[in-house]
Amino acid sequence: MIKAAAADKAGFYASNGYRAYGWQQGLYTSYARRDGALAADSYSARPGYSEHQTGLAFDAKAIDNRCSLQACFGRTPSGRWLAAHAPAYGFLVRYTPVNSVITGYSPEPWHLRYVGTWMTAYLKESGETSLEEALGLPAAPDYIGPNAFAANP
Ligand code: DAL
Ligand code: ZN
Repeated sequence: MIKAAAADKAGFYASNGYRAYGWQQGLYTSYARRDGALAADSYSARPGYSEHQTGLAFDAKAIDNRCSLQACFGRTPSGRWLAAHAPAYGFLVRYTPVNSVITGYSPEPWHLRYVGTWMTAYLKESGETSLEEALGLPAAPDYIGPNAFAANP
């Protein structure tokens, strides 16, 4: 996928792949201190909940680092290329403007998760906009469940 994007003048590289629990905890905690937990929850997963902890997700950055981890990445050649072509490689841009009510996160055109081409084909066919819908998971804007308050003392 990286080679194909580069050939199409939309070169990107993979950054922020696997994160251990402790690393996610450090990230989330620093964001929550800076912006408050409510705001942090809209763009950072609490420890134990990040797709980065699975090793299946990465953050794409343009070769020239333009709009790195910013909304405008979606309008760069790399961002556009990934939105159009990542599904053919089994990757999903997980957090989009269309599905943010379901995922609970603001759009991240750089965050990709491997789900396999079976799943990307299913989503294309069904017209569903998120992995949550495809898996029958409820919308997750809040942390509802046994650990709901664990990270929010
Ligand atoms: N930024 C994404 C939601 C994460 O923290 O996994
Ligand atoms: Zn990410």
